[in-house]
Amino acid sequence: MSEGPVKRDFFGSRFGVIAATAGSAIGLGNIWRFPYVAGENGGGAFLIIYLVFVFLIGIPVMLSEFTIGRSAQRNAFGSFKKLAPGKPWYFTGLMGVAAAFMIMAFYTAVAGWTLEYLYQSVINGFSGLSSAQMNSMFYDFIGSPLRPLVWFFGFMAITASIIMAGVQKGIEKYNKILMPMLFVLLVVLVVRSVTLPGSMGGISFLFKPDFSKITASTILEALGQAFFSLSIGMGTLITYGSYIQKKENLGSTAFSVAIADTLVAVLAGLAIFPAVFAFDLVPNSGEGLVYITLPNIFQQMQGGYFFAIAFFLLLSVAALTSTISVLEVIVAFFSEELGIKRRQATMLSVVLTSILGVFTVLSFNSMSGVTVFGLTIFELLNFTSANILLPLGGFLIVMFVAWYMGKENARKELSNNGKLKVKYIPFYVFAVKFIAPLAIAFIFLQGLGLIHFS
Ligand code: PHE
Repeated sequence: MSEGPVKRDFFGSRFGVIAATAGSAIGLGNIWRFPYVAGENGGGAFLIIYLVFVFLIGIPVMLSEFTIGRSAQRNAFGSFKKLAPGKPWYFTGLMGVAAAFMIMAFYTAVAGWTLEYLYQSVINGFSGLSSAQMNSMFYDFIGSPLRPLVWFFGFMAITASIIMAGVQKGIEKYNKILMPMLFVLLVVLVVRSVTLPGSMGGISFLFKPDFSKITASTILEALGQAFFSLSIGMGTLITYGSYIQKKENLGSTAFSVAIADTLVAVLAGLAIFPAVFAFDLVPNSGEGLVYITLPNIFQQMQGGYFFAIAFFLLLSVAALTSTISVLEVIVAFFSEELGIKRRQATMLSVVLTSILGVFTVLSFNSMSGVTVFGLTIFELLNFTSANILLPLGGFLIVMFVAWYMGKENARKELSNNGKLKVKYIPFYVFAVKFIAPLAIAFIFLQGLGLIHFS
């Protein structure tokens, strides 16, 4: 297809494509959400189901996003408008941009907490605190507006400055440095954690398949985790796909990214649970696990000062490579649809997402009383994006490729116009026509509470 009137930037190398896409996928979702969700849902058994979903549904959705983005050479909204002119499919792209706004707002708020904790690690701020004090340290911090706001804007500014530098000189360049760094830090932490005396409990907590804990809702949890973790369903990978050169192999890229994302989730579990068990702590949930339990552990552990810095640095890096990809969805949309420069588009996106972001940060303190359907602003954005917009978007994306674009167009894009062998096409087509839409319809209905599994 023609390049169109807009001159587009692109990823310069295969490694750059994988680093950027894996950078998007690997984030807070892997490092604090996955270990806890897996632990609560039968450990090893959950892991097996999660893996099946990543390969059966995640990779097909990812490939569909790449196919749409690379063939259209446009942002998430513009891609649908270009491939299906005059048809309402562009609504899928609009929904993706809306999801990006919401995720950017609450994800950057949490990423900001990570910067505070990195700072506390550096100044040795956890030293001598009891578990109870560690707990109040966290809630005092998110409960007062000023510091979380400062960190929020700090994180937003770092994200924006990388985006402004461009696709190749910004996004690709930093991901190529940050992703290997993340991997090294994670491996160091895993080695430390699994060699602690008493760490075995954590290893079996994570890996021992406990099939009695598997219920229908566990299965849906695994599916939801796969979606959020792989960054699929909102056009992040349509946007990144539009920067992938025509000579790259989309199939092997999707496969490598899915493996890297899963590997990091498992390594994060291996870094966290053995340490939690070694220090006789209860595997706590969500935000508490990372921000309360871990500083507790670092404080008691030899060399904890350095491991704390390494961990929060790792978490910040992982979050940054994800916020870059979320903001880029909005920046590409504004820049191409309004015909403005990347710099201006970035500033506009930052201003608009920050408005929503400020409300999100305040929803932990001065605005905690403001609720919609009983949810705070943070919870509402989190719920609406993850439980409604991502599944619905993923559903429409696979339906678009399966029933509108068609098998032959998809084959052409995935095989680079016949140059690559794509033996997986029959399976891919079956997955996007049937397996993925049906499974996604399940999470969506469950998320809305329209159907209930015990
Ligand atoms: N995949 C990212 C994570 O696991 C979050 C994300 C979701 C990023 C959707 C982009 C789009 O942290």
